[in-house]
Amino acid sequence: MSVECFVTGGSGFVGQHLLARLTSTGHKVWVLMRTPANLERLREQVGRLGGNPACVHAVEGDISREGLGLSEADKQRVSSASVAFHLAAQFSWGLTMERAREVNVQGALRVARLAASQRIRLLMVGGFMLQNLDHLASIGVDNECPENTNWPAVYGRAGGYEGSKLEAHFAVIRYMQETGADYTIVHPATVCGHSESGHIVEGQPLAELIRNLAQGRFKAVPGSTRHWLPLVSVDYLVTMISCAAFDPSMANQQVLALYEHTPNLQGMLGQIAKTLNIKAPRRHVAIGLLRWLLTIPGLAARFAISAESLNFIQTQRFDMRLSRQLELKYQMAHPDMARALERTVRYVKGNLIH
Ligand SMILES: NC(=O)c1ccc[n+]([C@@H]2O[C@H](COP(=O)([O-])OP(=O)(O)OC[C@H]3O[C@@H](n4cnc5c(N)ncnc54)[C@H](OP(=O)(O)O)[C@@H]3O)[C@@H](O)[C@H]2O)c1
Repeated sequence: MSVECFVTGGSGFVGQHLLARLTSTGHKVWVLMRTPANLERLREQVGRLGGNPACVHAVEGDISREGLGLSEADKQRVSSASVAFHLAAQFSWGLTMERAREVNVQGALRVARLAASQRIRLLMVGGFMLQNLDHLASIGVDNECPENTNWPAVYGRAGGYEGSKLEAHFAVIRYMQETGADYTIVHPATVCGHSESGHIVEGQPLAELIRNLAQGRFKAVPGSTRHWLPLVSVDYLVTMISCAAFDPSMANQQVLALYEHTPNLQGMLGQIAKTLNIKAPRRHVAIGLLRWLLTIPGLAARFAISAESLNFIQTQRFDMRLSRQLELKYQMAHPDMARALERTVRYVKGNLIH
């Protein structure tokens, strides 16, 4: 059955692949765009990624504006959507708390309000760190009673991007529960390129990591042999998002999109280095020491690494039961991730490193 969907963040990396997936299965999509003049370019990209460009339509707006900045006519247009997919986020290190809150927290609440007012499901994309309860506790998030969290202190420890993703998550759940509205949250691991083409875009955390390794900026492996950076391929992720979005049993549920057999960070850097035909770092450096080193003026820029990014390198293992149930139900499986990573490295080398 084909339906209409509303998507924020459709021009982003995950968003482009989600548009391709939704339109290839016959859905018509209204994409919230800050710059609708880019619609033709986005359509072409959706076509290249295997979607149907004719099913992609734009409405002008911005999640940092009241009512998403939608005109009355566009509000009318998106009112026929059956699901609101919220992917838009300002993703960069060093965001101020004020800016991060305005876009990532208030923006998410604005999309939640739209979904709740139309009585449609909100499919929100979170992040895997939201399922790492030890980490949440360590940075001061009160998982049982989130309203007791001292958010400015959390932003101080985790940085603007992560702090705002965490605050948005709890604020949206609270709002949706208070209004009796329906939500589903998918938490991706760090997103790897497409398992066949290796497609990934500039600015993605994994693309930056590959570039840093290629340019010899990784002198040591952050953390111990137990540390890992879980990955998920973008194609598995958008399949998971679209299956979860239309599944009635996923009402008010959260699910991880994460390849639990991702090797440890040392192994992953080794795989990337092998494809790049360079030597992988072998020595380890404790995360705490690295964090301290990065406070030395100039070092963060020289290593092209931000202390905020280190939070994502963890030893935590995750409860994958709900993800496995969805995999069984929809007969989906992770692709061969060693091959997906190799193709991503080749894509970055061929297209993003000049
Ligand atoms: N990529 C990962 O490794 C990863 C991992 C875990 C979770 N996530 C989450 O997954 C989601 C998608 O990530 P991504 O990697 O696809 O992000 P991305 O490539 O950085 O794309 C961000 C998208 O958000 C839009 N956007 C930013 N600010 C906006 C605003 N004020 N109003 C409207 N749209 C705005 C951008 O539109 P413009 O084209 O106008 O800039 C773009 O479409 C995000 O919520 C992210 O936090 C990503």
